[in-house]
Amino acid sequence: MSNFSARLSALFARKPLELLLEEAQGESRLKRVLGPVQLTALGLGAVIGAGIFVATGAAAHNIAGPSLMISYVVAGLTCIFAALCYAEFASMVPVVGSAYTYAYATLGELFAWIIGWDLVLEYGVASAAVATGWSAYFQSILSQLSLFISEKLPYEVDLSIPKIVSESPWRYDVELGQFVTTGSIINLPAVVIILVVTWFLIKGISESATFNAIMVCVKVAAVLFVIGVGAFFINTANWEPFAPYGWTGVSFFGHHVAGQQIGGAPVGMLAGAAIIFFAYIGFDAVSTYTEEAKNPKRDVPIGIIVSLVICTILYVLVSAVLTGMVKYNELDLNAPVSIAFTQAGLGWAEGIIATAGVAGITSVLLVMMLSGPRVFLAMARDGLVPKKVFGAVHPKFRTPWIATILIAVFVLSLAAFAPIDFLLHLTNIGTLLAFVIVCAAVLIMRVTHPHAERPFRCPGSPFVPIMGILMCLLLMFSLPVGNWWRLLGWLGVGFIIYFAYGYRHSILKQYRKG
Ligand code: ALA
Repeated sequence: MSNFSARLSALFARKPLELLLEEAQGESRLKRVLGPVQLTALGLGAVIGAGIFVATGAAAHNIAGPSLMISYVVAGLTCIFAALCYAEFASMVPVVGSAYTYAYATLGELFAWIIGWDLVLEYGVASAAVATGWSAYFQSILSQLSLFISEKLPYEVDLSIPKIVSESPWRYDVELGQFVTTGSIINLPAVVIILVVTWFLIKGISESATFNAIMVCVKVAAVLFVIGVGAFFINTANWEPFAPYGWTGVSFFGHHVAGQQIGGAPVGMLAGAAIIFFAYIGFDAVSTYTEEAKNPKRDVPIGIIVSLVICTILYVLVSAVLTGMVKYNELDLNAPVSIAFTQAGLGWAEGIIATAGVAGITSVLLVMMLSGPRVFLAMARDGLVPKKVFGAVHPKFRTPWIATILIAVFVLSLAAFAPIDFLLHLTNIGTLLAFVIVCAAVLIMRVTHPHAERPFRCPGSPFVPIMGILMCLLLMFSLPVGNWWRLLGWLGVGFIIYFAYGYRHSILKQYRKG
C-alpha cells in the first residue's frame, strides 16, 4: 500500500465491533437495575426543560405564531426518525458512549472525531442555553416572591436581580435582524447555577435514578398543570392567524429558497421547528445508561422512543394552550409559560410553574453538563484527545474533573454573555449534524455488517434513515445562515486538533500496528 493510501485508510479505520464489546465487558461493573419505565423517566428527565419552558415563547412570537404546534410535530417526527436509528445502534453496541462510539464502529475514526467534537459543542452550548433559561425562570420566581412578601408587609420588598447583571448584554431584535444591547453586562444567575452544577458534578453527585424520578414528576406535573388549567382560558381567536409567518422558511447558505424572511433569517412553521427542535434534545442520553439497563437490547430502544412520543404529545398541547391563552406576539420571551398565566389573570399560578420550571431545567442542566466531559473521556480513552487532561479521573471523587472544569469554563463564558436565540440556534445545528451522521451510519452498517446481531432493527429501512437525514438537513437549512459558518468554524478548529494530535496518538492506529 502506498504511503498516501495507508494514511487515508487510517482516517477511516473502524473500531471493530468485537473490540467495543470486549472493552465493555472489561469495564462493565455497573449494576443492571434499570427497566423500561426508569429508562423512559431518564429520557424525560434529560429532555423536558428550557426548550418547552423558554424557547416556545420566542419561537411563537418571532418565528411561527400559533403554527408552532405543527412545528413541534415536525421536530418531534424528525427526532423519532433519528431516535429509531439511535435505538438500532444502542441495541447493537450496548456500551456507554453515544453517537461517538457508534460512529467509530461504523464510519471510521475521522467521522467519529467529527461527531465527538460536534457533540462536545452541542452539549456545551446547550448547557449555556439551558442555564440562560434557568436564569429567566429563577427571576420569574423572585418577582413573584417579591409581590407575595410585599402584600404581607407594610412596605415594598424587591428581591429582583439588578438589571445590570440580570441577562446577556445582547438580544436579537427580529425586526432589525441584528443584535441590540440590553443594558445588562452579564447574566449572573446563569453563571452562578453553572458553578453550582459543576461543583456537584466534580463531587460526583450524578443523576441518580431516584433524584431523576422526582424531577420528572415535578416537571411533568407542571406541564400537565399548564395544559389542564390553561385549557380553560383558551380564546380560539388568538389562534388567528394560525401561521402569520407562513408555513416554510428555508434558505440555502443565505440564499432565500422558500417562505418569508425577517432580517435575512427564515421565518415560518418550518423555521419554528428548527428552533424548538432544541426541546427534544437529550433523548440520546438514554443510550448512555445502556450499561445499567436490565435488558438493554429491548429496554433502551423502548426508553428512547416512548419518552420522545410522550414529549411530542405534551409539547403540542402546551404550545396550543399558550398561544390560545395569550396572543402569540404578546408572549414573554424569557419565561413565557409562567408569565402567560399572569397575562391571563392567573398570577397565583406563575410562581408554581416557575418553581417547577426551575427544578426541571436544573435536572436537564445536570445531564447536559455531565455528558460533554463523558464524550471527551471516551475520546481520551481512544487516544484522540490528551488522556492526561481529558481522561484524568479525580483520585477521590472518581469523576473526569479536569474535562468538567474546562467545559464549565466554556459554558460559563457563553451563558454569561450570549443571548439565548444565538445559543439555541448553534446547539440545534450541531445536534442535527450528529443526527444526520447517525442515520447515515445505520444505512452504511446494514451494508457493511449485514449479519451483525440487531436486537432492535430500525423499522422501515431505508425509508426511515433517509427521512431522518432529509428532515434534519431541511431543519438545518431553516436556521439563519450564520450558524452554518459557526458550525464549520468549530469543525475547522476540530480538524486542526485532529490532524495535529488525534491522528498521531490514536490508540486504534497503534493497536492495528501492533
Ligand atoms: N431538551 C432540553 C431542554 O429543552 C435540552 O432543555
